[in-house]
Amino acid sequence: VSRNGKPVCLLTGASGRFGTAFCRRYAERFHIAAVHRGEPPEVATQGQRFVDPLAPGHEPPENADPVFVIRADLTEPGEIDRVIDLTLARFDAIDHVVNAAARVVTAPLVDARAQVDSLEDQFRLNAVVPARLAAAVAQRHWRTRDAENRRRNRSVVNVSSVSGLYVYGDSDQSGYSASKAALNFLTCHMAAEFGRFGVRANVLAPTTFPALVPTETVVDAAVALAEGDASGEVLVVDEAGAHYVERG
Ligand SMILES: NC(=O)c1ccc[n+]([C@@H]2O[C@H](COP(=O)([O-])OP(=O)(O)OC[C@H]3O[C@@H](n4cnc5c(N)ncnc54)[C@H](OP(=O)(O)O)[C@@H]3O)[C@@H](O)[C@H]2O)c1
Repeated sequence: VSRNGKPVCLLTGASGRFGTAFCRRYAERFHIAAVHRGEPPEVATQGQRFVDPLAPGHEPPENADPVFVIRADLTEPGEIDRVIDLTLARFDAIDHVVNAAARVVTAPLVDARAQVDSLEDQFRLNAVVPARLAAAVAQRHWRTRDAENRRRNRSVVNVSSVSGLYVYGDSDQSGYSASKAALNFLTCHMAAEFGRFGVRANVLAPTTFPALVPTETVVDAAVALAEGDASGEVLVVDEAGAHYVERG
């Protein structure tokens, strides 16, 4: 349990579209350990605050709930454990893992090297890293805390894509799509295995945002999964709204 009772959310991809919106909308509700690789998200953090140039003595409301940023390339050896070390040192607990960091390469499989040359990297960041992070949190923090996990309604939300469910044959995103499909199956296995100690795991599969659905709708669906009671489910967010899909 975190020091002041708020649930603790370990979020990757915090500087991206989803991650920044997540921090902006939910820093009040969660303690957020916000993992980014390059620039930090444009929100108040332990090292950066907003200043109103017209009222420099007045504290803008955006500064009320700073997120705890951690800079890490999650594909580098040792970085997943360092991120967990820092999060536990700061908050004493991890209640939700939201895996949103991803890489997408748009190129055909033939007549260009970009797709085939990046297949390993896409699979590593989009499928292996989320599984390693969730497994490491489970191994180090959740495995022996069955009752606490259930009381705190702990969970993993893996941000996948409709590209991991359906084949968009003219998208030239074969590697991304296949890595997200792998993430979906990994998540369903997590749900079965982590359920033994009271932790849920679900997939969020949005369509293109913000072009087709608002980013805020996608973020709200992630929080609904984190705070709900589903496990082993795939929640699609598309133009029809948020709806669960049948899975094999
Ligand atoms: N946007 C869409 O249309 C869409 C649709 C369906 C699904 N999704 C999924 O939704 C999630 C969020 O998408 P988004 O559009 O917000 O992504 P985005 O804006 O491209 O952001 C990607 C994030 O991943 C981080 N990242 C990249 N490589 C990393 C590494 N090696 N280690 C640690 N972090 C790394 C980036 O950090 P830096 O910026 O510092 O590199 C950034 O914070 C992704 O899983 C994506 O696949 C997106």
